[in-house]
Amino acid sequence: MLICLVVGARPNFMKIAPIDREFKKRGIDTLLVHTGQHYDENMSDVFFHDLNMKSPDVHLNVGSGTHASQTARIMIEFEKVCNKHDFAMVVVVGDVNSTIACTLVAKKLGILVTHVEAGLRSFDREMPEEINRILTDSISDLLLTPSLDGNENLKNEGVLESRIKFVGNIMIDSLYDALERVKSTNSNPANNLGIGRYCVVTLHRPSNVDDEEKVTLLVENLIETSRKIPIVFPMHPRTKNNLEKFDKLHLLENQPSIHILEPLGYLEFVSLVGGSTLIITDSGGLQEETTSLGIPCLTLRENTERPITITEGTNRLISDLSTLQISVDDALQKQDSLEPRKPKFWDGKTAKRIVDAIIECIEG
Ligand code: UD1
Repeated sequence: MLICLVVGARPNFMKIAPIDREFKKRGIDTLLVHTGQHYDENMSDVFFHDLNMKSPDVHLNVGSGTHASQTARIMIEFEKVCNKHDFAMVVVVGDVNSTIACTLVAKKLGILVTHVEAGLRSFDREMPEEINRILTDSISDLLLTPSLDGNENLKNEGVLESRIKFVGNIMIDSLYDALERVKSTNSNPANNLGIGRYCVVTLHRPSNVDDEEKVTLLVENLIETSRKIPIVFPMHPRTKNNLEKFDKLHLLENQPSIHILEPLGYLEFVSLVGGSTLIITDSGGLQEETTSLGIPCLTLRENTERPITITEGTNRLISDLSTLQISVDDALQKQDSLEPRKPKFWDGKTAKRIVDAIIECIEG
């Protein structure tokens, strides 16, 4: 039995690593395919080392491009891989272009597909990820959800209950593992900055960083925030490119309390976040990690596909930037009273439930 595991972009690696390890434990062969959607050393390679992952068995090297060209290139290359092997299952995770591209190819070839992190919905079809989620869920055979709101969303879309299984949050498996590993190391890049308490900022969504007016407002707000608490900002390449294009990068770089870093590896990032006082982000995964760590998270978006991080976690949506400073003040006051949260099945044991469900689906 050969299982194909697909990774493409940064948020995929920490979801596939524990699943691959679990298959290995059970003596089941996997073929790890990297589409190459992300390709920089610090957006991709470093994660394989940090997550103790095997190197990709196949690399499709597709690189960046428009949505259509990137998705199309992945499809063309992945079809060749599927034709060469006899996969019992293709496993895709999350909501990036690699996720839908590989799902579409596999299903057209009649191969079973499992979608891990199924059922999440922001109900905002302007997000490319929402389109990827809806399409992937509508054709995958096995839909494994991280939280019960995912089951509800899928049922509301008319998906048969037999295709849906609540398994929990796979990212938390990697988070717990990394926290254990960084305990005895000095991998927190903030330690060298001598700044004491700090806020971590990550921003990369097109809705935040592609529009000049929005970027200008964001920069003003980050400068204002840095007067209250130092900021560490590992910067995504898209964000850096746009800040340069709008001639705003130097405004941040000139602030003594804003520390701009290159994108970080997984262990460094987990250390950095684990030691932080506050997070300002538009990431999906970070909303979940901060909930698990008990750190206040201000998410610069109008909606979230992860509502459990608000109802049971430490996340708050900031849809209007003019309210950010009030929320920063509030979060800085309250942060000491926050505790790590553990929504059901965010327990570090999700990989086991995923592999059980996949085997049952193949054999069933
Ligand atoms: C993608 C995902 C997004 C995820 C994010 C995490 C889609 C539609 N979006 O967005 O859901 O949250 O990854 O980072 O799949 N670039 C580099 N080096 C790289 C990769 C990208 O310089 O290794 C630059 C290129 O200029 C590229 C741009 O970043 O054009 C955007 O990359 P892309 O993969 O298209 O989307 P992300 O914004 O990273």
